[in-house]
Amino acid sequence: MIRKANIRPAWAVLVLMMLCLILFTLIKTSDTSTAVNKKIQSELETPSKTDHSKFKNAVENENCFKCHGQSKYSYENPESKKTVTKKMFAELIMNRDVFYVSNHREFKCTDCHSEDYNTFPHAGNLRMETKANCIDCHGGDEKYAKFKFEQIEAEFQASVHSEKHSADFTCWMCHNAHTYKINARSNENIEETITYDNMICLNCHGDLKNYQLLTDKVKPNILKKHEWLPNQASHFTNVRCIECHARNEDTLVVAHHVVSKKDAVRKCESCHSKNSILYASLYKYQVSEKIQKEGVIKGLLMGENTSIGPDKSNTLNIISLVIFGLTVLVIIIHAALRIKNN
Ligand code: HEC
Ligand code: HEC
Ligand code: HEC
Ligand code: HEC
Ligand code: HEC
Ligand code: HEC
Ligand code: HEC
Repeated sequence: MIRKANIRPAWAVLVLMMLCLILFTLIKTSDTSTAVNKKIQSELETPSKTDHSKFKNAVENENCFKCHGQSKYSYENPESKKTVTKKMFAELIMNRDVFYVSNHREFKCTDCHSEDYNTFPHAGNLRMETKANCIDCHGGDEKYAKFKFEQIEAEFQASVHSEKHSADFTCWMCHNAHTYKINARSNENIEETITYDNMICLNCHGDLKNYQLLTDKVKPNILKKHEWLPNQASHFTNVRCIECHARNEDTLVVAHHVVSKKDAVRKCESCHSKNSILYASLYKYQVSEKIQKEGVIKGLLMGENTSIGPDKSNTLNIISLVIFGLTVLVIIIHAALRIKNN
């Protein structure tokens, strides 16, 4: 009799603990993707509070940032000798914080742009300056061999974008010269990578102005075109556009062969199955890193992605761990009580 009376309060405490934990995990996992979007947005909008002086060319770059780094710029009118303040064109403003975390953060502006930009007003013919391509600097360079620039170049040349707009569509269209930073191979947070990569596509496919710099065609409504996909919002935050739209090669971390829409992935089982294409694309780098670090078996079994899709969920994983832990606890308490009472 004494035994039963002791166990009941123990059970009540356990159930309560379990409910708290489940609630906690649900709250914690639900709002991360909106947080990522907000973070990127605010990064682009807020003025810099960080000190960039450790960067080699920070002082020199201020000669450009003093005008191109915010929404207003001032200069002395050479004739009247008066200081004039004007609004900077939105598309010519760049953010220092974002530049100084980008791949080319150690550069001087004038490494890529003409020295003549040091004079203002800028000479009109500077608009025609030719800019180096990625391959001009990175091609054949041992140091960057792991990125496989030559193969990327070839895939890009075969993509729908090159096919339809060969001369106008360059690598810079997707890799903003002042903001591009590698994510897929270095960022542990897959959600951030997904947002980062999708923003690259949406910068045109979600923005009429940028899209029509290339074509007079009416921009198709992206949301409407994907109506067949259930839970569209969830898919757009959990997979990248390139998962469905680019042909994946084993040898590249990021596929660059964007194919025509009729060849896009539509079948649900391509992803929602044990041999999901996502192992070889979105999760590729994580999977291969894990294999290198922890050995093949652990890498494959312990990867977050044993099963992908609605039946795979972090929340569920955590809950099942919690339940397992609690079961063990109950057994221990139960055994302890039995020993005590015997
Ligand atoms: C006194 C303010 C001022 C300074 C300093 C300045 N710029 Fe500009 N820049 C402008 C304005 C205004 C425009 C747009 C009008 C124009 O093109 O002249 C512009 C345009 C540009 C363009 C775009 C031209 C195009 O294709 O439309 C580039 C590139 C550029 N600046 C680079 C630089 C670089 C690099 C530096 C530093 C070496 C620099 N600017 C310094 C004010 C400035
Ligand atoms: C790695 C090379 C590189 C560096 C470094 C670089 N730029 Fe650029 N910049 C480019 C390229 C390429 C373009 C043209 C982009 C395009 O055609 O889409 C460009 C375009 C611009 C434009 C025109 C607006 C735009 O975004 O298209 C401005 C203004 C500009 N750069 C200013 C700067 C300033 C200021 C710096 C230094 C803080 C800088 N750039 C550093 C390569 C570079
Ligand atoms: C003017 C020459 C030049 C151009 C053009 C250029 N890069 Fe670079 N890039 C460099 C140099 C130099 C570095 C190394 C910077 C450093 O170590 O601080 C670099 C760094 C990188 C890195 C980072 C490597 C790492 O290990 O962190 C990537 C990725 C990259 N570039 C991709 C590109 C892409 C994509 C383009 C075209 C859209 C491009 N680059 C255009 C010269 C260039
Ligand atoms: C249609 C858009 C698009 C175009 C065009 C494009 N890229 Fe990319 N590229 C991406 C995306 C998206 C990523 C993934 C960025 C990330 O998360 O690191 C990427 C990543 C890369 C990387 C890093 C790959 C790695 O192994 O980490 C390199 C290098 C690169 N691109 C080079 C190029 C070159 C060179 C060109 C032109 C020949 C080019 N890209 C054109 C979208 C594009
Ligand atoms: C789950 C796979 C999947 C994802 C994720 C996906 N798409 Fe699509 N997309 C498709 C398919 C399939 C079609 C073809 C639809 C049709 O033909 O009606 C398509 C059509 C398109 C089209 C052609 C529209 C037209 O009719 O001209 C564009 C552009 C496009 N997608 C861009 C994107 C962008 C940008 C993203 C990321 C934000 C994205 N897609 C994400 C599968 C996908
Ligand atoms: C610089 C703007 C720009 C960027 C960035 C861009 N696209 Fe496009 N894309 C276009 C334009 C313009 C077209 C229309 C081509 C045409 O029909 O003339 C297009 C067409 C497409 C199509 C439809 C091809 C067809 O069959 O009609 C797909 C799919 C597509 N893009 C996917 C992507 C993906 C995925 C990304 C990101 C990795 C991306 N795009 C980035 C401008 C862009
Ligand atoms: C490119 C890969 C891919 C394709 C193709 C794909 N899905 Fe998904 N789907 C995912 C991923 C990744 C998730 C998010 C998984 C998670 O929440 O753990 C997801 C989530 C879902 C969800 C759960 C949404 C939620 O918010 O809980 C449903 C339902 C779903 N997919 C159904 C489908 C159906 C039906 C199709 C075919 C019409 C399809 N998916 C095609 C990758 C894909």
